[in-house]
Amino acid sequence: NHKVIAIDGPSASGKGTVASRVAAALGFHYLDSGALYRLTALYAQKQHIEWNDETGVTKLAQSLPIVFEGQTVWLDGEDVSEAIRTEAIGMGASAVAQLPQVREALLQRQRDFLTKQGLVGDGRDMGSVIFPNAALKVFLTASAQVRAERRAKQLGSPCEGVAFERILADIEARDEADRRRPVAPLVQLPDAELLDTSEMGIDEAVKKVLDWYGK
Ligand code: CDP
Repeated sequence: NHKVIAIDGPSASGKGTVASRVAAALGFHYLDSGALYRLTALYAQKQHIEWNDETGVTKLAQSLPIVFEGQTVWLDGEDVSEAIRTEAIGMGASAVAQLPQVREALLQRQRDFLTKQGLVGDGRDMGSVIFPNAALKVFLTASAQVRAERRAKQLGSPCEGVAFERILADIEARDEADRRRPVAPLVQLPDAELLDTSEMGIDEAVKKVLDWYGK
């Protein structure tokens, strides 16, 4: 898979921004794998299926009626681009992502995004499970404080006070769950390059990834 770059890392580390810019620079497709888990969680909520109901959620994941169109994501004909970005749906995504059958249901779907055009995927298991033969694997991270600040900005919320503490706590809880789960846990692979963006701007991070890729 010489045209695959796998970028994994914890919540709000900037993976999405870096991965999509790298993809644009190379003319590769960008796969936001987290969006698939978020869409599954949102769809379950709409269908009144509990997030821990493995059989029920798996059925939904197998036949997710989704369309990606530029920056817009459609679920069953509805524009859910914003609805999937809330912290509540982030927690739901983390819950459904613990279910092995749900991950299995989404596996082929993710691989199908790879065409001869090339692909940059971001998530938790891009390098470990979905594209183990990726030409480049990156573990992208930043301190919890910096990640919470980025998430707060993204949500248009202040970087201090009770709301901020809540975001920080949610991020830490989700990281814990993603690292501790038995299936496809978030790990820093031995063959992945470490990119800590705590004190690094986006341009520099993108350049680093492109340099590693040999571009
Ligand atoms: O934006 P953020 O990094 O917080 O979340 P995301 O990448 O959209 O992923 C949401 C949740 O989906 C994560 O907390 C993971 O539990 C799960 N996920 C996963 O298990 N595997 C992936 N490849 C991507 C996301």
